[in-house]
Amino acid sequence: MGIPKVTVLISGSGSNLQALIDAKEQGTLPIDLVKVVSSSVKAYGLVRASNHSIPTAIHSLYSYTKSISKDDKKARIQARVRFEEELAELILRDAPDLVVCAGWLLILGPSFLKKLGDIPIINLHPALPGAFDGTTHAIEMAWTKCQNDSKPLIAGCMVHYVIEEVDKGEPLVVKELEIVPGAETLDQYAERVHQAEHRAIVEGTIKALQQQKKL
Ligand code: GRF
Repeated sequence: MGIPKVTVLISGSGSNLQALIDAKEQGTLPIDLVKVVSSSVKAYGLVRASNHSIPTAIHSLYSYTKSISKDDKKARIQARVRFEEELAELILRDAPDLVVCAGWLLILGPSFLKKLGDIPIINLHPALPGAFDGTTHAIEMAWTKCQNDSKPLIAGCMVHYVIEEVDKGEPLVVKELEIVPGAETLDQYAERVHQAEHRAIVEGTIKALQQQKKL
């Protein structure tokens, strides 16, 4: 059995990608990071990948839709399908054992999932299962709910398998964090979530590969 090949999808800062790189370099995550794909040309995660000699690619939805009018719904749907199919083709070229969405902000729809076939995909989401599905504002929403309700709230983050229903796939790793009203600012809570995410993404990657008998 060779070293499992992992493709990482990012959209931004890439601190979770960094957690994977660090774990790999410390020897606790024996994987080959075959490619980092970013949905944004500006993502700092691309720099992090290059700093560690990991091949990168940019696959931006904007480049598929920019010439299509907002009213041309049919053409926009077709462009989205092309974007998803070509993303899958890009990933398949490396024949990875696992795809890890580490701060990837776009929904992976049926055209992508179908083309990727049996290759498992996991995603990091900064909320507990069923709590704040499908939103990029889950951290802020949890913290605000706690302040508004004036009672402690158990929130946190998870790594789950990606299925068609957004953020509804089977959880692999769940990290619970208690929020107490008035005890910390939103930024302080966000920082706690990010620390937990950096552990969860490594644990989730290991667990997914173990379940596939690749580790
Ligand atoms: C994380 O909080 C992730 O849960 C969210 O976006 C953030 C990505 O951070 N969806 P980074 O790009 O890995 O630093």
